[in-house]
Amino acid sequence: MDAMENILTRRSVRRYTDRPISEETLHKLLTAAMSGPSCVNARDWSFLVVRDRETLNRMADANGRPAEPLRGAAAGILVCGDLERAFPRAKEYWVVDGAIAAENLCLAAHALGIGSVWLGTWPQMDRVQRQRELFQLPEHIVPHSLIALGYPAGEPEARGEIYEADRVHFERW
Ligand SMILES: Cc1cc2nc3c(=O)[nH]c(=O)nc-3n(C[C@H](O)[C@H](O)[C@H](O)COP(=O)(O)O)c2cc1C
Repeated sequence: MDAMENILTRRSVRRYTDRPISEETLHKLLTAAMSGPSCVNARDWSFLVVRDRETLNRMADANGRPAEPLRGAAAGILVCGDLERAFPRAKEYWVVDGAIAAENLCLAAHALGIGSVWLGTWPQMDRVQRQRELFQLPEHIVPHSLIALGYPAGEPEARGEIYEADRVHFERW
């Protein structure tokens, strides 16, 4: 699958088979997550990888109803910002860097035949706080997003091209 096909065919996948995800595959996904751009190359993220069913359920509890897909997932990865590594003059870039890492992870999963769905966490601070407490994270580590992963149960619905001409402005607004 080439890069364009990968981007255009990725869909959120919320139902998974029981097939586990190997260490080797998780390593590939995390390599992709760490290969995106980051502000001043700060690489201001950390990843918490979970495969234990009970912990996955507790992570789902922490994020509330929209995180239900995690209960059937083979793995969940909590993408976190690391404020100690963030660009000191504009630390908020950690949010951008975290989002890039999360999207790279989802695209790499799709390339490897694994379904993923992004489960929004930051800036819903109740979710952030509950994930923080669940894992007793250090103060400078901030939960950013939770990615549920698993081999897809069924084909996600295909989608046509979604270019929206009215969103694009050339040369002037
Ligand atoms: C920041 C963010 C938060 C999201 N949170 C959730 C969520 O909590 N639960 C969920 O099922 N999907 C969540 N999604 C997935 C979106 O619903 C999905 O990307 C969108 O409907 C478009 O569908 P697609 O991913 O198949 O293109 C989230 C996506 C993003 C980028």
